[in-house]
Order: sequence, then structure tokens, then C-alpha cells
Amino acid sequence: MQNRRWLSASVDDTRALGRALAAELAPDGVLLLSGDLGCGKTVLAQGVAEGLGVDPAEVLSPTFNLIREHRGRSGPFVHVDLYRLDPGQVDPLGLEEMLAGPGVKVVEWAERLPFPVAGARSLQLSRGSGGAGGREIVETTTTTSR
Ligand SMILES: Nc1ncnc2c1ncn2[C@@H]1O[C@H](COP(=O)(O)OP(=O)(O)OP(=O)(O)O)[C@@H](O)[C@H]1O
Ligand SMILES: [Mg+2]
Repeated sequence: MQNRRWLSASVDDTRALGRALAAELAPDGVLLLSGDLGCGKTVLAQGVAEGLGVDPAEVLSPTFNLIREHRGRSGPFVHVDLYRLDPGQVDPLGLEEMLAGPGVKVVEWAERLPFPVAGARSLQLSRGSGGAGGREIVETTTTTSR
């Protein structure tokens, strides 16, 4: 499959992409987000939340909480941020179980996940070349061997 790629010119564009992805992810999909600080992962997660009927203002960059669960229109929306993941302190089994559980799950700093997530979609965000508000978002498809 060819990689999908989006160019976002603004916060609104990135939000709109999140809303569109929400429809594809519901009811139980996992979206893995990676990319540098400030590249728009939380903005994208807010768009997904909005698409699921969650107030996007509830979706913050968690400082201490790794995992926050919100109630969407037709099921949970789970927002995970692994920026502060301390591998020694987190039970990977619990995290793995949660990602296989109900609801739409969006993971920021997914490159820090210590295990692969079957069936997840992965997006890599970066600052585009088109000025301050430009972002490039690429869906990376991994070839899974079984
Ligand atoms: N096209 C765009 N899409 C998303 N955010 C944009 C865009 N242009 C500018 N921005 C700005 O970039 C910042 C993105 O912040 P955001 O918190 O979403 O990043 P992040 O990837 O979650 O960072 P962190 O790694 O700290 O969690 C915001 O300040 C937002 O206003
Ligand atoms: Mg963030």
C-alpha cells in the first residue's frame, strides 16, 4: 500500500484531518503519532476527539497523567502521551491491554512504546517546508510478518 500523506497549512487543517480520521478509527482503532515537540500531535488528537463527540478543550498535553479517558458519543476516547514514559515505572502489560481494549486510542510519542501494536495506524508528523504553520503528516505502513 502506498503511504498516505497530508500537508497541513494551519491548526484548523490538522484538526480537520483528526476529525476525518476519527470516522475511520471508530469504534476501537489505535492511532500512533510520532514526531518532534510541537509538531501538532495534540492538535491532531483534539481533532479525533472532536470527531468522536468529545470536547476538544478536554484534550490537553498531560503533564503527569500518561493516560486520560474521555467519553465520546458512542464509546470511549483514550488519549495517551508517552513523553514522560519511564519504562521502569510503567507496566507494559497494562498499556498493551488498554490499547487492545475498547474505544479509539490515540498515542503521542508512540516511538517510545516498548511493543508493537497489531492493527494500529501510524502517522509521522513534521514541520513542513511551507513556513511556520506548515506541517507534513505521513502515514507509515509497516510490513508485518507473521
Ligand atoms: N498546521 C499546524 N498543525 C498543528 N499545529 C500547528 C500548525 N501550525 C502551527 N501549529 C502550532 O504548533 C503547535 C502544536 O502543538 P501540539 O501541542 O499539538 O504539539 P505536540 O506534537 O503535541 O507537542 P508535544 O510533543 O509537546 O506533545 C501549537 O502551538 C499550534 O498552534
Ligand atoms: Mg502533545
